[in-house]
Amino acid sequence: MKLSTIRFLKDFILYTGVLRIFSPLNHSFQFVSNFNKMRSWISEHKNDLLLNDFYSRKRDYNKRYQLYDTVAKHYQLDTKEIMYMEFGVAAAHSFKWWLAKNTNTGSAFFGFDTFEGLPEDWGRHFKKGDMSASLPDIDDKRAGFYKGIFQDTVHGFIQQHEAELKTKPKVIHMDADLFSSTIFVLSQLHPYLTKGDIIFFDEFNVANHEYQAFRIFTDAFYVKMKPIAAVNNFYQVAFVVE
Ligand SMILES: C[S@@+](CC[C@H](N)C(=O)[O-])C[C@H]1O[C@@H](n2cnc3c(N)ncnc32)[C@H](O)[C@@H]1O
Repeated sequence: MKLSTIRFLKDFILYTGVLRIFSPLNHSFQFVSNFNKMRSWISEHKNDLLLNDFYSRKRDYNKRYQLYDTVAKHYQLDTKEIMYMEFGVAAAHSFKWWLAKNTNTGSAFFGFDTFEGLPEDWGRHFKKGDMSASLPDIDDKRAGFYKGIFQDTVHGFIQQHEAELKTKPKVIHMDADLFSSTIFVLSQLHPYLTKGDIIFFDEFNVANHEYQAFRIFTDAFYVKMKPIAAVNNFYQVAFVVE
């Protein structure tokens, strides 16, 4: 089609607002687009992983511990001095797993959460305020928590820990479910991402949320991350920064 025709059509659509008739389908269109991209991504990346159960009929949330264990062993994350950051802590199930797994006294563990639940609705089933939990009571000097929305806490954290962020091997655990939270954190940490850093996503195959954040982040920042292992049909996925 000629450029002048495309311009004419675009101006017509803009002026008349005719596409508004599809407004009720906005979310569905977005979902279909993201889902198709995600499905193609899975086809492209499902081989050569340390662990992968695609396709399995049953989702078992406990499989994520198998994922952590496989990655931890492969990259010596159980013994190495690491900087572990978890975004979305809630009752600290995964946070405590990593704290118990890594025995290095030089490691540091940081958890970020409102502890008052999700800051906005997540899909149709989870509402703002769901998943609230009390601040974890943990008896380990290596662990610390930042209470509040990431949009308020992460900047200060980065300023306080810039030197470590630049030098220590990082394990970043994205478990905030939401697109907004995931894209915000990844963008903030981008200047500190180093080859070999490990990033986990806990809800990677949710097309309009973590997957969309992953895709936009990697596209916009030209970041290369290689998938290492996945469970629950890519619901939980681990990546290494290249
Ligand atoms: C699925 S839960 C985390 C589960 C936890 N990692 C576990 O393994 O048990 C998601 C958490 O993300 C937190 N969250 C999401 N977006 C956030 C934001 N922008 N700021 C702070 N916390 C956020 C919610 O408060 C919620 O507790």
